Amino acid sequence: VRHLLGIKDITEQDIQLIFETADQFKEVLNRPIKKVPSLRDVTIANVFFENSTRTRLSFELAEKRLSADVINFSASGSSVKKGETLLDTVNNILAMKVDMIVMRHSSPGAPHFLSRKINANIVNAGDGTHEHPTQALLDAFSIREKLGQVAGKKIAIIGDIMHSRVALSNIFALQKLGAEVAVCGPPTLLPKYIGDLGVKIFWNVQEALQWCDVANVLRIQLERQTGKLFPSLREYALYFGINKKMLDDLNKEIVLMHPGPINRGVELTSDAADSPHSIILDQVENGVAIRMAVLYLLASRG
Ligand code: CP
Repeated sequence: VRHLLGIKDITEQDIQLIFETADQFKEVLNRPIKKVPSLRDVTIANVFFENSTRTRLSFELAEKRLSADVINFSASGSSVKKGETLLDTVNNILAMKVDMIVMRHSSPGAPHFLSRKINANIVNAGDGTHEHPTQALLDAFSIREKLGQVAGKKIAIIGDIMHSRVALSNIFALQKLGAEVAVCGPPTLLPKYIGDLGVKIFWNVQEALQWCDVANVLRIQLERQTGKLFPSLREYALYFGINKKMLDDLNKEIVLMHPGPINRGVELTSDAADSPHSIILDQVENGVAIRMAVLYLLASRG
């Protein structure tokens, strides 16, 4: 059984195959009839133990476009609230003859744990602060679409790196594809291990913006922080927030990305998020094709 647990575990060739497959599905998604019969006999459960808008809907749409049968599970409102374990929950779902599990969980490593216990394909839809592989794939695919290639491009990931699974998966994916990667944020929001990942580090957002071709901006993950916020949201917005004038004044082409949800007025002003620099909604559009590619490739390899 094959899984997509993280970008760390896959090769550049795997990523290129996913991109080539996603190119074909993107063509399908631009046709009047957007559905293909590829996964007609496959049943997929989207098992979400954490909130989501984009990832959950994007997976569900990708599955429906592939003609899979789909069931959706949210921990809130389920028997998890009565004390049922993760493994019991998933085993009960699998007993209903489900073939693939797409899972989001707040614990880093939860899908890896499951992959050792169950006999079904697992796709990690975000595990705590660890990885969010399909987000990184759709981000890199969007850069490739906008700039022609990822290799040789300079990408700055700006924001709360410490609590972000998007940051880690992006670093792995972009480096595998030959990009130069930098991170930028206040020292309190950069993890201690960041120096071991071969990334450039900026503490000044202006310098990061001047250096990069692409700014991938992350939100402050309030739900993963305990105790007093340092910096506060107001301080963060003042010293690291990005507005449209900052982007215009660079006098160069710069691509602005954000995985969502945006905290408007904190990491990005609305005039930046909605500016011509932004490809934020293209990222969302590409997410469906990328997830179709991942599910199709996993299902076709058993
Ligand atoms: N990008 C992302 O993971 O968004 P959601 O949390 O809404 O799924």
